[in-house]
Amino acid sequence: MELNKVYLGDCIEIMKELPSNSIDLVFADPPFNIGLKYDNYNDKRNYKEYFDWSKKWIIEAFRILKKEGSIYIAIGDEFAAEINIILKQTGFYYRNWIIWYYSFGQNQRKKFNRVHTHILYFTKNKEKFVFNSKSIRIPSARQLIYNDKRANPIGKIPDDVWEFSRICGNFKERLGNHPCQMPESLLERIIKTSSNENDIVLDPFGGTGTTASVAKKIERDYITMDISKNYCDLIKKRISGQISEIKRNSYQKGGDAGRESSKMLQFKINPIELFVK
Ligand SMILES: C[S@@+](CC[C@H](N)C(=O)[O-])C[C@H]1O[C@@H](n2cnc3c(N)ncnc32)[C@H](O)[C@@H]1O
Repeated sequence: MELNKVYLGDCIEIMKELPSNSIDLVFADPPFNIGLKYDNYNDKRNYKEYFDWSKKWIIEAFRILKKEGSIYIAIGDEFAAEINIILKQTGFYYRNWIIWYYSFGQNQRKKFNRVHTHILYFTKNKEKFVFNSKSIRIPSARQLIYNDKRANPIGKIPDDVWEFSRICGNFKERLGNHPCQMPESLLERIIKTSSNENDIVLDPFGGTGTTASVAKKIERDYITMDISKNYCDLIKKRISGQISEIKRNSYQKGGDAGRESSKMLQFKINPIELFVK
């Protein structure tokens, strides 16, 4: 199978085409089974069907990962515990349960607003894996706030709660009408941490192609795929730099499908960006 290509089809079937122990990093942002509106995927399956399907693709991801490879899975509250168990049962080793925190969650009427997604970080080997701490360090409170001489001048490894803005409908980074495009900054942290230049990064659920796009920018090889031809076409355009064409073709007046509330479009400035970085 060729590297740096976008494949159309079911991720389990496509991953089956890959040799065992061939991929350095898997990032997966599967449908969360919460009834989002995708192009041609039904995001509302019964519990057992979704659970069994998750098992199948995670087992395939385990097989194709190199012995020292890593996997990150983004998942909602509804199935985070189940995916965590599947990862452990498959043979992966737990490293972090990361919380991606964002503003502009969906407003709720009879419960607290949800402003996070889980990112489960596991490795195939318990001790040997890539963790490029120097590439992802951030300024510490000792440096920024306390001006403490004991502060490590190269900063600190980020905590396990990550604050990155979601890609709202009116953001410059936003492409097309896919219901859940991830921010490039988040993917950049993951790829820089757990792969080196020229390593192979695979995303089984390409969507708008965030993983492939970042991988290319920071000189990793990628393999990505989606079950929707429209999304595959979008990814190809994004990767080849035809971004303005994507926006022109797919912008729809009135906001977005899926996760986002139209209320958020009233804001001109993303509040997170006021105090992050
Ligand atoms: C949550 S989205 C991924 C979004 C992506 N992380 C991004 O930044 O754009 C999940 C994607 O998985 C795709 N999908 C669903 N079932 C699939 C399958 N069996 N094989 C491949 N892709 C699938 C959907 O079409 C959807 O685009």
